[in-house]
Amino acid sequence: MSLFRTKPIEAQPHVDAGEPVHGGLTGEVTLKRVLSARHLVMLGIGAVIGAGIFVMTGQAAANHAGPAIVLSFVLAGIACGFAGLCYAEFAAMLPVSGSAYSYSYATLGEFVAWFIGWNLVLEYTFAAATVAVGWSGYFTGLLDSIGHMTGSAVGLPAALTNAPLNVVDGRIVTTGALINLPAVAIVIGVTALCYRGITQSASANAVIVAIKIVVLLLFMAFSLKHVDPANWTPFIPEPEGPGRFGWDGVLRGASIVFFAYIGFDAVSTAAQEAKNPQRDMPIGILGSLAICTVLYIAMAAVLTGMVPYTLLGTPKPVATALESYPDLLWLKTLVEVGAIAGLTSVILVMMVGQPRIFYSMARDGLIPKLFGRVHREFRTPHVGTLIVGSTAVILAGLLPIGVLGDLVSMGTLLAFATVCIGVLVLRRTRPDLQRAFRVPWAPVVCILGAASCLWLFGRAFLDNWHWMSGWILIGFAIYFGYSRRHSQLNA
Ligand code: ALA
Repeated sequence: MSLFRTKPIEAQPHVDAGEPVHGGLTGEVTLKRVLSARHLVMLGIGAVIGAGIFVMTGQAAANHAGPAIVLSFVLAGIACGFAGLCYAEFAAMLPVSGSAYSYSYATLGEFVAWFIGWNLVLEYTFAAATVAVGWSGYFTGLLDSIGHMTGSAVGLPAALTNAPLNVVDGRIVTTGALINLPAVAIVIGVTALCYRGITQSASANAVIVAIKIVVLLLFMAFSLKHVDPANWTPFIPEPEGPGRFGWDGVLRGASIVFFAYIGFDAVSTAAQEAKNPQRDMPIGILGSLAICTVLYIAMAAVLTGMVPYTLLGTPKPVATALESYPDLLWLKTLVEVGAIAGLTSVILVMMVGQPRIFYSMARDGLIPKLFGRVHREFRTPHVGTLIVGSTAVILAGLLPIGVLGDLVSMGTLLAFATVCIGVLVLRRTRPDLQRAFRVPWAPVVCILGAASCLWLFGRAFLDNWHWMSGWILIGFAIYFGYSRRHSQLNA
């Protein structure tokens, strides 16, 4: 039964204006409460808008949904909206840094909590590495553009910009490349920033987010005149097989563009550093999700309206759409800069989030204590940050994007489903807890949220069951070999 022991919780006292919740009286070094509602919304947008819109939308439209990729974005947005409401209830009630891990520990027990914590590694560390690989693609593209413009050779050799390993028919093969150097470099740079401080990280993120939003708005404003409604007909192309067009294609598209929404939940990992989490957590989580949903739907409509969807199946669909209009070519380099900025902030927020989840797990004894250490001066979980950074460097330097992306979505979907179920469980087991934010129509929203996330998970699991099962087995081995014996709850 100890597998299902839960961590007792009390609603946190109302926190405001920089008072630490834990350890303040014992002189222990704690995380810093400095983040405002604006910082939190920016962190959410920073984590969300990235490879999903700048890289994956095109393939999803060209191969699965056609112009109805707009509907795929709406459907994925609704599923994330349900999960977002549930995250908001938890994050305002339990402003701790462990996110879905901590919420599961309080509701579904230690074993589920461990399982979710382990899957969050897929969401955060693997997402940082995946997006770093996408970043490398855009960065080398920009170097090539600069080379063409200036007539000089500023590019890097292919052996230094590609993954040395690939997976073909389920087997790992070498590609002849040495290392993906730009991917490694961006992860090292971002790790250094996260090590230095949460204020520095949040401020850098805010600047980057402003750049990427301006670029997206400029793209839409200038491209609008080239939107031809004829490109939206037929809106849902005739089905051509399982997952290819028709309604099935729209659903397959939704499971792909789900990746684009991942990250709004990362706001909850900053709860322990928010000035006024009870008020600002729901604003940060739901505000960033709402802004990104509107931007995504508008972007998808403009892209598929500008050119026939069949042309969009490239790794850079936004740049591809611009190439059809000579008067818009000046926007292309700007879009590349916006994409590089966008991907940088996703890596940044993911690298902020993961060490904070480990921090919570270490304090509960489920992973070694060193992950819980906080830097005396910078007040960041610095040891965890270095370990996560090193892991992401290895993944980003060696592996291709395709292997990583599906694992990220699957880990995230399991976490979302658990959070939705957790809200219902806690409403039953602890109706007395004060909830600063409550999910409206809770049973319906929570059940629909969990069901839609599990459905999307099942769809991706069918294609990747061997990788995912391997990951889960490693997690179980660590839990039974280490975590269970070291759990604080044993005391
Ligand atoms: N949502 C993030 C992206 O699209 C992970 O890059």
